[in-house]
Amino acid sequence: MDFSIKAFDTKNTIQAAKSGCIAVAVFENKKMSAQAKALDQGGEITAALKSGDISGKPGSTLMLRNVTKSGAERILLVGMGADEQVSEKAFSTGVAAAMKAFGSIGANDAIIALPMENVKGRELDWAIRACVIAGHEAVFRTDAQKSKKDPAPAGVQRVALAVPNTAQAKAALAQAQAIANGMDLTKELGNLSPNVCTPTYLANLARKLGGDYGFEVEILERKQLEALKMGSFLSVTNGSEQPPKFIVLKHMGGKAKDAPVVLVGKGITFDTGGISIKPGPNMDEMKYDMCGAGSVLGTFRAIGEMNLKLNVIGVIAACENMPSGRATKPGDIVTSMNGLTIEILNTDAEGRLILCDALTYAERFKPAAVIDIATLTGACVIALGNHNSGLFTRGDDVHNALAEEILAAGRQASDTAWRLPVEEAYNEQLKSNFADLANIGTPGGASVTAACFLENFTRKYTWAHLDIAGTAWKSGAAKGATGRPVPLLTTFLMNRAK
Ligand code: BES
Ligand code: MN
Ligand code: ZN
Repeated sequence: MDFSIKAFDTKNTIQAAKSGCIAVAVFENKKMSAQAKALDQGGEITAALKSGDISGKPGSTLMLRNVTKSGAERILLVGMGADEQVSEKAFSTGVAAAMKAFGSIGANDAIIALPMENVKGRELDWAIRACVIAGHEAVFRTDAQKSKKDPAPAGVQRVALAVPNTAQAKAALAQAQAIANGMDLTKELGNLSPNVCTPTYLANLARKLGGDYGFEVEILERKQLEALKMGSFLSVTNGSEQPPKFIVLKHMGGKAKDAPVVLVGKGITFDTGGISIKPGPNMDEMKYDMCGAGSVLGTFRAIGEMNLKLNVIGVIAACENMPSGRATKPGDIVTSMNGLTIEILNTDAEGRLILCDALTYAERFKPAAVIDIATLTGACVIALGNHNSGLFTRGDDVHNALAEEILAAGRQASDTAWRLPVEEAYNEQLKSNFADLANIGTPGGASVTAACFLENFTRKYTWAHLDIAGTAWKSGAAKGATGRPVPLLTTFLMNRAK
């Protein structure tokens, strides 16, 4: 879907606009927006509201044809709630409904003339982004691996947003498109089957992104990982026939001397649990255990496209977690890259085992901050559901500030996170009789003990951890990857680049 800006003024009116369809807002109690009023000089919209054919409730829609005082072939009335001061939720619901309606009409272009400047508590930038992301969502298809492709949405391919043609709006549109494209990539990767989306596939994709956007890309192979003494990461890949890949991407858009932000992604392309094997039902969904890595790649696509003026380094540890005669066993003790020994009590707690070495590797970049992103624990889904990613940092002033910065970016992007503690007390739960630490904690607070495990490997820099087990994927009939937390991460980086 293609987006542009179309500004209306007294010379260039909405009534005169030629278009396949114009979407305008109507409200409960038969009220309508200023844009709708401008198109209602023949009374058709008033009549539609009077008839009760549209309630004005968020998400209700009604298509009108032959509106006499409009140059458009169709007018789509979109319910947006009580009144002109639209809530965020009503706006999002309305835009999604409009995009859905656009998919089934015989027009290929449309104008969104919804109250983008009247969303309560939000700037125009936010509304532009909401439109573009909703448009991508409406046309997104997961049919890469189907022999018969899902029917493409018939109708609208080009959407103009009726907003003032300012430099700010243009910039917001470009940023929105970059974020939506990044999310699409993350979704595609998450949805691909695990026999296709292997560590090698992720490495090749990183190389391709490097070619497209000028990132420096380095892929470390098993031999190099052995030389680096990544004993913890390598122990996870023991049972797999697929070679592990350690992927490093560099977007050096800032000043050469500026410390980079490092994003570290969990790239388990399939998590069987290993010898501590998972139960059968829904195990297929463990193909999305690479969504941390996928969100790093999606975020790189976004910042590459917007040519962000910031130094950002992506680090991805990618492998499979498989059982086999060579697989790591419960009770095995491995030595991580930073020298700490780890007793692997449960081979299904593999995410932290690959991340700890990636986090140690990140030290070499002398980072301004490191954020790791991982589908780390089922317990995070229990704690926060699908609405918020779990955010974990230490509790000192520097880390409190980083946590606030990340939470604020999430709110700004409508891709929210919720903070959980990282405290010394939880480290007690990770004690091992035989090694420096165990890879699982004693019962209770499993998401927190997982984060605290990682904390042990991040003491040389400022660090935050995002557990996206609940937010990266939706289950049920419409199962698939969501593209989160690409909006949060990209917004965080954009704010840092300001
Ligand atoms: N990849 C899983 C976490 C997960 C579970 C993500 C459900 C998405 C949905 C992770 O590797 C895992 O298996 N974690 C275990 C940890 C446990 C053994 C301490 C878990 O959460 O059960
Ligand atoms: Mn696991
Ligand atoms: Zn996992």
